[in-house]
Amino acid sequence: MSIIVGIETSCDETGVSVVENGTRVLSNVVASQIDVHRVFGGVVPEIASRMHTEVISQLMQQALSDAGLEPTNNTAPVDAIAATFGPGLMGSLLVGLSFGRALACAWQIPFLPVHHIEGHLFSAFLGESKPEFPYLALVVSGGHTQIIQCDAPHQYQILASTRDDAVGECFDKVARLLGLPYPGGPSIQKAAETGNSAAFRFPCGLATKDTLDFSYSGLKTAVLYMLRDHPEASVPDVAASFQRAAVDALIMKTALAIEQSGVRRLVIAGGVAANKCLRESAASLDAELFLPPFVYCLDNGAMIAAAAHSRMQHHCALPHDTPAAASIPLVVV
Ligand code: KG4
Ligand code: ZN
Repeated sequence: MSIIVGIETSCDETGVSVVENGTRVLSNVVASQIDVHRVFGGVVPEIASRMHTEVISQLMQQALSDAGLEPTNNTAPVDAIAATFGPGLMGSLLVGLSFGRALACAWQIPFLPVHHIEGHLFSAFLGESKPEFPYLALVVSGGHTQIIQCDAPHQYQILASTRDDAVGECFDKVARLLGLPYPGGPSIQKAAETGNSAAFRFPCGLATKDTLDFSYSGLKTAVLYMLRDHPEASVPDVAASFQRAAVDALIMKTALAIEQSGVRRLVIAGGVAANKCLRESAASLDAELFLPPFVYCLDNGAMIAAAAHSRMQHHCALPHDTPAAASIPLVVV
């Protein structure tokens, strides 16, 4: 049995979680900074790192006590500590990475750096049913839009990426155009509930079948021009039409990836995987679906602990002194 505490501080959520054997979450605490950043319409990196510093120690204590674990006389209550080393905001990454590394050193237990996207992939292993290899993963977050083929534990092929904006970033930017609060994904989803998704036709980036890559900057610009020409347009209708177009592009390229690869198991992970319209539309795909529970779609420490557990189990843990990296592709680790 192994108990790992996972720390996630790559952006604006401080997450600490205790996970047993990579799948059973014993505790999961997340301190969201959304209310502070909302005033600025997006994440302010300097504020984000300061806020991680303020709460991380308390969150660690809370996560341990929620899991029924207490350090006694400086003995370690867990078998290892894991933290996100990148990609993300450098100042924010450094808080979780340094805190986790220092605590592991004091407790004399292994420290495991984890790639943030690999963490999102492992959120699928925190649900009821777990995917077998090989499987495809559609990773959709504020910084990434990728289709990854997972052939074996920790063996990845990136089949598709976005050539410009990530889909979550596009939700955030369009919400801003519509005067809806940050983060844009949940705001647009809510506004879209009462809107007509057929009210406006927005384009699908790179709609041809000769590439699996995504493009979201054209969709954002199309909404911008439409609002300039029709300032009277109903916000719910624009939100619903935009959401439909953004999701359709994800479904179209994922269907193509399933067809081309012949892999018929699909994980959808990352913040945008919380989107109801995406979760419903994915049911039409010709693949067995693995959707993480809502709470593990957004950034959290449990997915980091789960990924670290698997790396330990497969004897491919990253070096404990792996430096923080603001931008680093999954395939190099
Ligand atoms: O994975 P995540 O928590 O952080 C990153 O790694 O970026 O994803 C955050 C992104 C934001 O862009 C947010 O607007 C989007 O996920 N998001 C959603 C929903 N909830 C969060 N997008 C669409 N629908 C949602 N319900
Ligand atoms: Zn994330």
